[in-house]
Amino acid sequence: MLSRTSLRGLSRAHLRCNLSTRASAILSALEISADTELAGVYHGEWTGTGDILESVCPTTGEVLARVRSASPQELQTALEKSREAYELFRLVPAPRRGEILRQIREALAAKREALGALMSLEMGKIKTEGVGEIQEVVDIADYAVGLSRMMNGRVVASERPGHSIYEVPNPLGVVAVLSAFNFPVAVYGWNLALSLAAGNATLWKPSPSTSLCSIAVTKIVSQVLEQNGLPGAIAGLVTGAKDVGEAVVESQDVDMVSFTGSEAVGRQVGKVVQSRFGKVLLELGGNNASIIMPDADLSLAVSAVFFGAVGTAGQRCTSTRRLYLHRDIAPEFLSQLQSLYASVRPGDPLEPTTLLGPLHTRAAMGVYSSAVDRLRKTGAEILTGGALYEGLASPLDGGNFVMPTIAVPKTVDLADAVWKTETFAPVLCVGVFDELEQAIKWNNGVPQGLSSSLWTRDIRNVGKWIGPVGSDAGIVNVNVGTSGAEIGAAFGGNKSTGWGRESGGDAWKQYVRWSTCTINYSDKAPLAQGVQFSSAA
Ligand code: UN1
Repeated sequence: MLSRTSLRGLSRAHLRCNLSTRASAILSALEISADTELAGVYHGEWTGTGDILESVCPTTGEVLARVRSASPQELQTALEKSREAYELFRLVPAPRRGEILRQIREALAAKREALGALMSLEMGKIKTEGVGEIQEVVDIADYAVGLSRMMNGRVVASERPGHSIYEVPNPLGVVAVLSAFNFPVAVYGWNLALSLAAGNATLWKPSPSTSLCSIAVTKIVSQVLEQNGLPGAIAGLVTGAKDVGEAVVESQDVDMVSFTGSEAVGRQVGKVVQSRFGKVLLELGGNNASIIMPDADLSLAVSAVFFGAVGTAGQRCTSTRRLYLHRDIAPEFLSQLQSLYASVRPGDPLEPTTLLGPLHTRAAMGVYSSAVDRLRKTGAEILTGGALYEGLASPLDGGNFVMPTIAVPKTVDLADAVWKTETFAPVLCVGVFDELEQAIKWNNGVPQGLSSSLWTRDIRNVGKWIGPVGSDAGIVNVNVGTSGAEIGAAFGGNKSTGWGRESGGDAWKQYVRWSTCTINYSDKAPLAQGVQFSSAA
């Protein structure tokens, strides 16, 4: 019998003729040819002569495509072309840039279903979430179209007669976006939309395991740019592994680096960009808690925790990883939650009835297993899950399926790795509290600070939760789960999540170069604060 590895080798060897119909239908809807190696670099032209990146379907193990990443020389060229593109694009009036964004929005919306399906195929999230992710890009593009007419500066009252002070936003330069596998398109979309509205060139370095998603989106965006007679390098692409990412982060030609990923890598990125005095925007780990008070609407709260912990197979930065239950409702809540978990079956994320797709990589299964081992070793009770799915029918037997897990550790010891580290898998840890203050302390007592959620009908709890003694996370929800934020408000987290803010709110202000301009239109030149500095005393 052939082992799983040799089967993978076989499918690789037969790539040209043997791509499953499941995969080839999706690729051909997006005009991606699976017959040849794909060019993984775009800077106005498609190229790619660097190392091969394999795109592997996490559901079946099938190799979907082989992508040629950026060689060091190609990366250099892409950086140069991005700079040239910026120098031209910064002169295009902002509302005209908004019109380009409107066309990009239309082009992406026209391919919403196909792109959503590609995301399911390559990342492994279920189709409704894949389509939702494209919707998130369409939404932020809409937002940025409006923004292109509202990126206003300010007029400040000067203390000197005949003077005016203006705070003026100008385009910033080249913005590099290093995106993660879990939201292979939306987080890039947030950055692209704001960056284009602001008049910058954007260079995208996607996760090496989701290069097909990045190629499909770049093809659509570049067509719009080219049709408008604009340089494609306004939205360039460099696929590649760690070496390409490092070179982008180190490059003096990159004015701002927007990085989404782990705390460990983010710490490095932050240091490198800071050491060359570039701008950096970090969106790192989340270790998000939901707190359930006894007066909560339990059926709503149970469904929200279920979506937060099991949705996207626990691979959102905003996934619910910690659940703090008030003692009075803990048994009832857990019994309702366990019944929902019991209904989950692993399946092809492309099938409309599937709620649980695979983890994105084999390596993630190892991370899941070590987390579960650690929980067992420290005496946690595993209420459900705690194992890999074995013996699934073909082709799911080639996929990375793990059982969503609910664990009750012996204590809520926040110094222990089971509570303080982000495990990017569907593992939910439960603690029981008596007072809201205790639960807030637990919510805040971890290094990360992305998202948090309180379930209550009592306005006094709400006031406490969103105020100075409340949640210290960037996203603080009430009767709304930890995941699934809308684009209109700023998205991002505090503490080791990196303090970055993307998407809505004031996030756009980071994508511009601010100047404070003092204009003297009088016949005198007084100094501020009444300082006298004249030799003719
Ligand atoms: C992420 O997990 O990196 O709030 C982004 C959400 C999505 C975005 C998540 N709108 O879950």
